[in-house]
Amino acid sequence: MKILVTGGLGYIGSHTCVELIKSNYDVIIVDDLSNSKEKVLDRLEQITGKRPKLYKYDLKDKSKIEEIFKENKIDAVIHFAGFKAVGESVQNPMKYYNNNLVSTINLLEVMKKYNVKNIVFSSSATIYGNVGIPKYTEEMGRGKTSNPYGTTKSMIEQILEDIYNSDNSWSISILRYFNPVGAHESGLIGEEPNGIPNNLMPYIMKVAVGELEVLNVYGNDYETEDGTGVRDYIHVVDVAEGHIKALEKLEKENNGLYIYNLGSGKGVSVLELIHTFEKVNNIKVNYKIAPRRPGDLAIYFADPSKAKRELNWETKRSVEEICRDSWNFIKNNSERKSK
Ligand code: UFG
Repeated sequence: MKILVTGGLGYIGSHTCVELIKSNYDVIIVDDLSNSKEKVLDRLEQITGKRPKLYKYDLKDKSKIEEIFKENKIDAVIHFAGFKAVGESVQNPMKYYNNNLVSTINLLEVMKKYNVKNIVFSSSATIYGNVGIPKYTEEMGRGKTSNPYGTTKSMIEQILEDIYNSDNSWSISILRYFNPVGAHESGLIGEEPNGIPNNLMPYIMKVAVGELEVLNVYGNDYETEDGTGVRDYIHVVDVAEGHIKALEKLEKENNGLYIYNLGSGKGVSVLELIHTFEKVNNIKVNYKIAPRRPGDLAIYFADPSKAKRELNWETKRSVEEICRDSWNFIKNNSERKSK
């Protein structure tokens, strides 16, 4: 089967390409390199022995998407491509609405034209909004999102639902990720955010490696066990495997619209993650307590039981493995500065 992976050189995209190739899928990548590097393609080849075909196109150009579908007989699409920085989306909402929505609409229109109606979409737990209950189940549905990035995810979910309702020969799987972290065990691919990271794990890594001075822990007065924010961190390879399972289900069942949480079901606090990272890697992470970050919730984690029941998917990798693999990746991929 030929799978088109949009954003396939990005963080979750690249790990999913590895798992796809391992499962004998034929992988084609489209990526505009706006938040990824072409060297990832070499790394994919190093890991799997196969080099996926790459189109360096921006999905906002519909004629380019058509070119891909004309040249290749695509069976299904996994759609990762999109901007994802929460803070930037608040500063520059139109950049997010324009990029994330236009590219997805173009993609879906071309898919329809070429009668390719199988898609797995990369969504986020952020679509639940602030619900006041820590454990998120799929049945809760979409709530009020707190930033334009999250709103684009929510809107795309709605678009996919509408498409399915208008034509139920589509097969759609929506995967709502919690907090993907970690890296491939080879140390060859991982998360490489441009500039100063927004998210906790990339920040921990930069401080551990000596590129940044100190990690701000945003608030230690939340109503959680140690006062710091609690999230559901999942190893990116577990996330990647979730996509394979979702794809297999689409192949098996043929038509339908399916929604799954991809999470571990376990909450881990900011301090717990820092201390696990320190212990597993035997390295100090310099941190200080800072004020709360506006818009953050105290605690949430997944109810992953639906994915377990219907996809036979669950997380296999521990927080310790997450910390080990993250460190292994950053060690191999950054110029270490002396502290
Ligand atoms: N945190 C810090 N210091 C930092 C960064 C984060 O203390 O420098 C804390 C946050 O306050 C929070 C936790 O670490 O308690 C996790 O924060 P992240 O920024 O890593 O992740 P979020 O849970 O805020 O958001 C992530 C993704 C979003 C996605 C959301 C879905 O960044 O894209 O999960 O649940 F929408």
